[in-house]
Amino acid sequence: MIEVMALAGVNASVMAPTLASIAKSRALAQLLASGPLAPPGPATGEGFVRPDLQGPWVTRVSQATGRRRACNHTKILCKTGLRVQPRRSLKNFALIGAAGYIAPRHMQAIHATGNRLLAATDPHDSVGALDRYFPDALFFTEIERFDRFVERARRANSADRIDFVSICSPNYLHDAHARLALRVHADVICEKPLTINPWNLDALQELEREYGHRIYTVLQLRLLASLSSLRKRLEADRKAACAAGTGSKADVVLSYVTRRGPWYDVSWKGDPARSGGVAMNIGIHFFDLLLWLFGACQRHELHFADRHRMAGMLELEHANVRWLLSLDKADLPAGYLDQGKPAYRSLTVDGQELEFTGFTELHTATYSDILRGGGFGIDDARPSVELVYQLRANEITTRPELTHPGLQALTARPSRTATTITPPASSADDGAT
Ligand SMILES: NC(=O)c1ccc[n+]([C@@H]2O[C@H](COP(=O)([O-])OP(=O)(O)OC[C@H]3O[C@@H](n4cnc5c(N)ncnc54)[C@H](O)[C@@H]3O)[C@@H](O)[C@H]2O)c1
Repeated sequence: MIEVMALAGVNASVMAPTLASIAKSRALAQLLASGPLAPPGPATGEGFVRPDLQGPWVTRVSQATGRRRACNHTKILCKTGLRVQPRRSLKNFALIGAAGYIAPRHMQAIHATGNRLLAATDPHDSVGALDRYFPDALFFTEIERFDRFVERARRANSADRIDFVSICSPNYLHDAHARLALRVHADVICEKPLTINPWNLDALQELEREYGHRIYTVLQLRLLASLSSLRKRLEADRKAACAAGTGSKADVVLSYVTRRGPWYDVSWKGDPARSGGVAMNIGIHFFDLLLWLFGACQRHELHFADRHRMAGMLELEHANVRWLLSLDKADLPAGYLDQGKPAYRSLTVDGQELEFTGFTELHTATYSDILRGGGFGIDDARPSVELVYQLRANEITTRPELTHPGLQALTARPSRTATTITPPASSADDGAT
């Protein structure tokens, strides 16, 4: 029998007949008698949990009959015969950076995938969101006390030992927090960008090997169904064009304008040394997507850069890309703000607009993917981190060959602040270790 194929949303009425047939098994009947047969806890669309069994229901597909059935147990053939035991795939999580904007998405994802959050930390104590998902989670405003808790749980080898640490802290702290997690023998799910400097990735990779644990990052655009089918289509088109000897590079235009108010410059996000600047903080998803869709970068030019806006050109293996990023509301298309739209995203390939709505809602998909044995790691994160690092260090090209259609308007408008961007720090003083 093929084991778990996918976590699946299954409702009670669909499950009733299936459960009845499963209950015919004597061993399983005993198991079910240990807890109510009532439909399980929160329906999530991704799976759900029966608290008494503490394991997610899954869909199994029989190899013999192809039939799918809901199942919350594992059958083990051992010397004494067939043993049936509840699935205990429930994972313990701890969360760093719990009071921030993105942390509730991680809480929701941990909850929706049927796992539990045992501890969270943040120097700020605005963590009411915990009550919504994990009202019993411990909370620490000092990371040292958080560290003590997770370390004690590891040493006690108890049911409370932490399997995963989710990292939602500012970009420049990610590697330090990943080290903390590996040290307590946990895997890591870290927000993007995994690090703001490429050499920190090397150090993390060494630690991964040392501790035998994995560091995953959130590259959620890759999980958007429309974009993964586009990738397949592009690959197939390229193969066909190559066979016909007609291959040429696609013409890609990326524009992303997302309004940020004056608070941004006060927070870590507005400080290039802590966020990596505009290209790293808001651009990294798109640079990762472009590299994933169109191959490695062969050449790049930077055409404009200040603290809130950047534009340039990338020559990728299979595309020439003109890109523009801005945090300035003045760069939004006319009428956007009046319609209550704070952001404009556009990605065209040979003049055709790509659809990627919903990409901000993919944290649960990211967690499900990791928990199923997938996920994106250091090697996946590296190309975009390296590219953006180089872009930040680039001189501005004064005579660009291929410019973004919005570049002229961008350069004509004065920057919201007079400051130009700071180049990235050297490896000796990267502020990120
Ligand atoms: N995947 C996405 O779509 C997406 C969207 C937004 C942000 N992010 C990323 O998520 C991370 C957090 O971003 P955010 O928007 O939530 O920022 P935020 O500033 O709202 O939250 C960061 C939190 O980290 C806390 N923090 C600061 N120093 C800490 C420390 N030493 N230990 C523990 N916590 C500490 C802060 O107090 C804050 O609560 C960043 O890496 C960001 O790039 C990803």
